Amino acid sequence: MQPRDPKAIQALFDSIAHKYDFLNDLFSFGLHRLWKRKLLSWLEPSSGEKWLDLCCGTGDLSILLAKSVNPFGSVLGVDFSYSQILLAKKRSLSDSSRIVSWVQADALKTGLPSVSFDGVVMAYGLRNLEDPEAGLKEIYRLLKPGAKAGVLDFNHVVENSIISFFQKFYLRKIVVPIASLIGLKEEYAYLERSLKRFPSGLLQEKMAKEIGFKKVEYKVLAGGLMGALLLKA
Ligand SMILES: C[S@@+](CC[C@H](N)C(=O)[O-])C[C@H]1O[C@@H](n2cnc3c(N)ncnc32)[C@H](O)[C@@H]1O
Repeated sequence: MQPRDPKAIQALFDSIAHKYDFLNDLFSFGLHRLWKRKLLSWLEPSSGEKWLDLCCGTGDLSILLAKSVNPFGSVLGVDFSYSQILLAKKRSLSDSSRIVSWVQADALKTGLPSVSFDGVVMAYGLRNLEDPEAGLKEIYRLLKPGAKAGVLDFNHVVENSIISFFQKFYLRKIVVPIASLIGLKEEYAYLERSLKRFPSGLLQEKMAKEIGFKKVEYKVLAGGLMGALLLKA
């Protein structure tokens, strides 16, 4: 499968949805939860605000957000995978999640009204979009003036650096072999390919400035393995 082929990506995330949370915890040693919390601590969502989680998957970040904007705010989770959204709906049967709603839609064509959110998050979604720049433009379109956004993903590290060696080792020798054991080799081999075409932090910052974001900052996490693009409209 080639990165950025939306139909293939949708099929991929549909097919792995039932194992997605388990594998996410396994491959990140549970640390993705910490990185998502860190992202929210930088964004400081507050009670009463209206937030959007683009490429929400099974909705863990949406529900975390709901705890911050509770009780008068709202969170909308958007993903184009039917199976991921179905699992997100199941996950949100608890109290704090009542203010979360879910929509199956393409993050590049949400059809949501412009200038309507106090904040937008996207975790591990930008790398999968057909056109990441168009994804940032869509975020900009949806934000109210002065509103914040945070995009968390793998960091596209410098080739031949120690961290790039470690990233390759981790993806090739840990992730893919484990995924192979449960018949998901090709699905997880896709991760490294998707990273090759993913813009670096510096490039993401440049794109965001050109789009018109007033404040742009790229921060690294996990010793440089992950990165977060923090934006203000
Ligand atoms: C790696 S998962 C991340 C899910 C979740 N945000 C998380 O952090 O666990 C990427 C998600 O992006 C969704 N996705 C990819 N491209 C999309 C698009 N163009 N529109 C909407 N969702 C998309 C996939 O269906 C998948 O659920």
